[in-house]
Amino acid sequence: MTVSFTPNLLGPRIDDRLAGFLDGWRAPVADRDVVAAYQLLVEFILGGGKRIRPQLCYWGWRGAGGEDCEEIISAAAALELCHAGLLIHDDIMDGSDLRRGRSTVHRSLAHLHGGAGAEAFGRAGGILLGTLSLAWSDALLSSCGVEPARLRAAHHLFDAMRTEVISGQYLDILAQLRDGATVEQALTTIRYKTAKYTVERPLQIGGALAGAAPELLRSYSAFGLPLGEAFQLRDDMLGTFGSSGETGKSALDDLREGKQTVLFAHAVERATPAQLAYLRTWHGNPELTDEHAGEVREILIATGAPTRVEGMIDERVRLAVKALEAAPIASEARVALTVLAAQLAHRDS
Ligand code: IPE
Ligand code: IPE
Ligand code: MG
Ligand code: MG
Repeated sequence: MTVSFTPNLLGPRIDDRLAGFLDGWRAPVADRDVVAAYQLLVEFILGGGKRIRPQLCYWGWRGAGGEDCEEIISAAAALELCHAGLLIHDDIMDGSDLRRGRSTVHRSLAHLHGGAGAEAFGRAGGILLGTLSLAWSDALLSSCGVEPARLRAAHHLFDAMRTEVISGQYLDILAQLRDGATVEQALTTIRYKTAKYTVERPLQIGGALAGAAPELLRSYSAFGLPLGEAFQLRDDMLGTFGSSGETGKSALDDLREGKQTVLFAHAVERATPAQLAYLRTWHGNPELTDEHAGEVREILIATGAPTRVEGMIDERVRLAVKALEAAPIASEARVALTVLAAQLAHRDS
């Protein structure tokens, strides 16, 4: 069963806030190529994405008793700017050409300029635009208008979040360099590179802005960490078995890049010597074709790895929902977060 992201009222409000904010930060120099790069960044930020982190931030606020208001929309939108910057950098690191159904930012920059050195230029420009989006996320959160003591508490969580996600991304690239990763190691990586910045911290930041008590922040963590892990486990399943038309990303990237996912670690544990030899030859091989990918997928299925990952997703959703049931949270938020939990774990894009 997959659950599609149903249109919600928050998405357009977040997009409006982002558009207004970005309008206030036009290129400070008149150079037309700089202006074009800013335009590309704005189009990337406004041109898609499920807006998961802003939604969680908003419901973290409402769950702590915050009323609907423009301040929380600004804070929630700040998380989307942080996410956009992380994605731009991630696509450079992962050598990805496709994101949200379009060329990745670094590929578009390379294409804009063409000629010798275009690829290196695209990557360097992507580092700059990703950093710009990260810097803007700080500016937007800092100016969201929530009272200073609560904003300070939330900003502290935002600082922790950025430190965690960067550490997780570092673990992710290290795993490719090292000789494979165990299931446990791969789980640690996804906790840091995804679970915290996608679910746990956005909820806590929203909560802290509304003055949540420590007990509620702990509940957000008990809900957010397993759900965030389930979210990345689903991402890994979609990255290998999903359709590029639905995910907006390449179905070959994870295999070609040799991503040390939990899915792959499970397969390695159970593979026969012949299967292992095939996996070792093609996983992480830039020459991997659709045919090789098809064979790798068959092997993954034969080892039972996808079934085990599905079991891990279900277990984590169960833990998350149980934590939410016990949480001291406003009831409307409990309902919204229960729906979001199913969407995050069982989405098809
Ligand atoms: C993608 O996140 C990166 C991961 C942490 C897996 P999303 O799946 O939320 O990406 P968008 O924003 O919807 O494109
Ligand atoms: C993305 O992880 C995590 C961050 C952007 C911090 P992945 O590399 O696994 O995600 P996708 O599949 O490219 O979105
Ligand atoms: Mg990636
Ligand atoms: Mg990555």
